[in-house]
Amino acid sequence: MPKLLHLACSPRAASESAAGARAFLEAFRKARPDWEIDASDLWRDPLPEFEGDLLEAKYARIGGTPFSNSQRDAFAAAERLALRLSLADRVLISTPMWNFSIPYKLKQWLDVIIQPGLTFRFDPTQGYLPLLKDRPTVVILASGSDFVTGMNRGRIDMATPYLREVLRFIGISDVRFVPIGPTAGPSEPIHVARDAAHRRLAEIAGRF
Ligand SMILES: Cc1cc2nc3c(=O)[nH]c(=O)nc-3n(C[C@H](O)[C@H](O)[C@H](O)COP(=O)(O)O)c2cc1C
Repeated sequence: MPKLLHLACSPRAASESAAGARAFLEAFRKARPDWEIDASDLWRDPLPEFEGDLLEAKYARIGGTPFSNSQRDAFAAAERLALRLSLADRVLISTPMWNFSIPYKLKQWLDVIIQPGLTFRFDPTQGYLPLLKDRPTVVILASGSDFVTGMNRGRIDMATPYLREVLRFIGISDVRFVPIGPTAGPSEPIHVARDAAHRRLAEIAGRF
């Protein structure tokens, strides 16, 4: 059965990125009722700390040295998470913007799955090469600020370029970003931005 992986990255009950994801998934389920939705909540699902044996396993791989038993066990957790991504035919990431970038749980997930021999490899003549096949991906990015009017007056978006680059690094280049914002301030612009984003998400989901 074809599969969509949804990475939910907000811990808030009243999350705007989660509400956007619900609008997207409602339309997606109608368009593709036979698809499986693999839902991962990065604040609830177990996510290994990237330190100790898992960190040393990465350096062992880079250095071409064999794993110790404990490194092999630690690396297996990264393999399971990366496999979940590689088995997904479509990917939906719904995330808040936190301090100009992404929440640390999403960064942690990326740090865990981005491993040599798993999601990328290094070739001495060609440099870094991705190991995942490309697949259509949507990133819903909720922000207090409105980025439609540009990055100014303290509004800086490093989440979009960062996610574009890090996903491209492992092979996922077919990525569309759907911003939702402003999510803070006067209620009228919030409603307008939310409605426009939900309409766009439903429209994208229908042909995803
Ligand atoms: C820790 C933290 C940092 C934030 N940093 C930014 C920021 O840099 N830029 C911005 O526009 N909004 C920022 N916000 C506001 C959130 O992006 C906004 O509340 C958004 O709706 C969060 O997504 P969610 O509703 O899906 O949780 C921040 C919020 C928190 C809690």
